[in-house]
Amino acid sequence: MMEKTKIILDCDPGHDDAVAILMAGGHPAIDLQAITVVSGNQTLEKTAVNAMNVCQYLGLDIPVYAGCSEPMVRKKIIAGDIHGETGLDGPEFDPLTRTLEKEHAVTFLTRKLMESDGDITIVITGPMTNVGMAMRMEPRIIPKIKQIVFMGGAYTNGNITPAAEFNIAADAEAAYVVFNSGVPITMCGLDITRKVLCYPEIVERMERVGNKASRLFGDLMRFFCKTQKEVFGWEGGPLHDPTTIAYLIDPSVLTLKYVHGSVEIRSEESYGRTNCDIFDYMKKEPNMNVAVDIDVEKFWNLVETCIKCYQN
Ligand code: RIB
Ligand code: CA
Repeated sequence: MMEKTKIILDCDPGHDDAVAILMAGGHPAIDLQAITVVSGNQTLEKTAVNAMNVCQYLGLDIPVYAGCSEPMVRKKIIAGDIHGETGLDGPEFDPLTRTLEKEHAVTFLTRKLMESDGDITIVITGPMTNVGMAMRMEPRIIPKIKQIVFMGGAYTNGNITPAAEFNIAADAEAAYVVFNSGVPITMCGLDITRKVLCYPEIVERMERVGNKASRLFGDLMRFFCKTQKEVFGWEGGPLHDPTTIAYLIDPSVLTLKYVHGSVEIRSEESYGRTNCDIFDYMKKEPNMNVAVDIDVEKFWNLVETCIKCYQN
């Protein structure tokens, strides 16, 4: 019997976060224990509703906890140009009957991790505010976190400034806390997510599965790809966040390099830059596995496999 990977998904749905929820909620190798949401692609109120709508639509009985509505230090930024006014423009959902858990996500994270046997993986696909605040609120959770797998950063160029990727730039101080925590970290940055562009033929391939998950994927990706073309001029949108879940299902989908990674929090121009010392120039102690390549065919096969895990 395959051992399931226990995860908490901390996210800011967001179209690609929604596909990450779909994959984590569907595949038998993943035990999605809870979803915690944060301000990022849209305000917290909207990312929370989006997470609940996705779970309700897919029939996922997963608790959703709302977390931080503001970054630790900087002024909040959102990505309405990419994800729309709701943060999940495109799909039409039935009236929402799901409700949020009463506990704040940061309180939940500290409680759940302290109660755990140290077997929970934290997947972060939005700004790191919730996890950074939890580490500051209760440092004893740090040895209790099995590993952190996150989508964010880049050792090539950014996507919100020339230097920085959105998730990190949205709260670089939180990323600084996480990067320096000592927790085993795997980074899925733009360097590899930009290789999994969701072209129209990919959308059509997933829609041919013909179930509710495939319909959601199509509705999400048709909007996401439209805005990516408007903003970046690309035919297909990079499916960033699901690379984390694909890696947990089949680690061979990524090629990793164990390097020293840091995040810039003082520079005006390069705030949020992730400096990953891929060629070990600085001879500093490595502290994270950085994805340097992705098996594109294997990735899309994993996405399709997860979509097929839904019955109707
Ligand atoms: O830069 C891409 C990341 O920012 C993705 O996680 C996307 O959902 C947004 O949060
Ligand atoms: Ca995200």
